[in-house]
Amino acid sequence: LKSIPVRFKKPRNSGYEVLVHPGLLSKAGSEIKRRFPKHAPFIISSPRVHGFWGRALRQSLSKAGYKDVGLHLVPDGEKNKGFRQYELGLRALAAFGKGLRRKPLVVLLGGGVIGDLGGFVASTYKRGLPFIQIPTTLLSMVDSSVGGKLGIDFQAPGGLIKNLVGAFYQPSLVLADPLVLRSLAPREFSAGMAEAVKTALLFDAALFEAMESSASRLLAQDPRALSHVIASCVAHKARVVMRDEYDLSGARALLNLGHTFGHAVEAALDFKWLHGECVAFGICCAVDLSAALGLAAPELMRTEALLLRFGLPTRIRGLPLSRVMRAMAEDKKFDGRMNFVLPLRLGKSVLRPVASLEMVRRVLRARSGA
Ligand SMILES: NC(=O)c1ccc[n+]([C@@H]2O[C@H](COP(=O)([O-])OP(=O)(O)OC[C@H]3O[C@@H](n4cnc5c(N)ncnc54)[C@H](O)[C@@H]3O)[C@@H](O)[C@H]2O)c1
Ligand SMILES: [Zn+2]
Repeated sequence: LKSIPVRFKKPRNSGYEVLVHPGLLSKAGSEIKRRFPKHAPFIISSPRVHGFWGRALRQSLSKAGYKDVGLHLVPDGEKNKGFRQYELGLRALAAFGKGLRRKPLVVLLGGGVIGDLGGFVASTYKRGLPFIQIPTTLLSMVDSSVGGKLGIDFQAPGGLIKNLVGAFYQPSLVLADPLVLRSLAPREFSAGMAEAVKTALLFDAALFEAMESSASRLLAQDPRALSHVIASCVAHKARVVMRDEYDLSGARALLNLGHTFGHAVEAALDFKWLHGECVAFGICCAVDLSAALGLAAPELMRTEALLLRFGLPTRIRGLPLSRVMRAMAEDKKFDGRMNFVLPLRLGKSVLRPVASLEMVRRVLRARSGA
């Protein structure tokens, strides 16, 4: 037996910055130019987001001295986060790159759909181009734009599976401007708040309290209050992701608080509810389950109140219980017993296998009014 070790000195990624600032979009050009002076920006966005914010981004890029700027628009919606649009994105990028002496730099302007799909295009074209995330939904600012998970939904033999095909590939820069959230639908804004509440509940009692005391300012999109929440969530997610870049050690699993319930509810409701709405409901279920197991501190009762304050659903009347239970059993995280992230108190949760399906069912039944 000959054993030839193949070892690498330098990790492929040495890290990147996430900038959070009201008005940052108009400075995107100079921030990008400082780091990528020799590249040619290729913007991927959706018609809706580009309609609101595309001009500001393009003006800022041209002011910074970029001449060749490409643009590719992907129609809105999760249904477009698939193979067809992935291929069209690659094709548009190839057309842009043709005859260009500079290397393209992919700039993603949009929510999680554009981030996941466009990032996957960037990560695979010519084995990987640098890319920049400019998240435009609250969910993508606090969650999906950081962490390097990219991908598309895929029609597998058994049916469509979300995020089945993808890559771990980090962005080179993330620019979050809370002012762009002003054009976001209130329902989408609330859905993003669910992930922010999740992060505060998981890691940061002080942030949770700040969100309680500034709830009305947050709802009015006060730029300072929003920047604080976004930057804090990003810092927590970044810390977890740095420890567990490839989702191997289990550190990232905590980020699934509310998601075992949430994903199952999302599927059982045929994806008619927003992800964040299902997560809000799921967080309440996780708190209930933790309480049923005698693990939850009484202060956790404040979670539901905070979610309600942001207009999120914490009860779903007429929820199809058996479909939810079935979806939960089919969840990719299911490995014989079901693992749940259970909150212990504000800022502290644990990952625990829960053996009693009856207890899970009771929690769901109590929140579905059935
Ligand atoms: N990669 C990750 O780690 C990760 C984490 C969580 C979620 N995700 C993925 O993110 C996706 C959901 O992302 P999302 O919630 O951002 O939804 P989204 O990207 O579909 O955006 C929601 C809607 O808001 C519109 N929109 C976006 N920004 C806007 C703005 N500033 N003004 C007006 N309209 C705007 C979009 O056009 C779209 O219609 C899912 O596909 C999910 O799988 C990925
Ligand atoms: Zn989520």
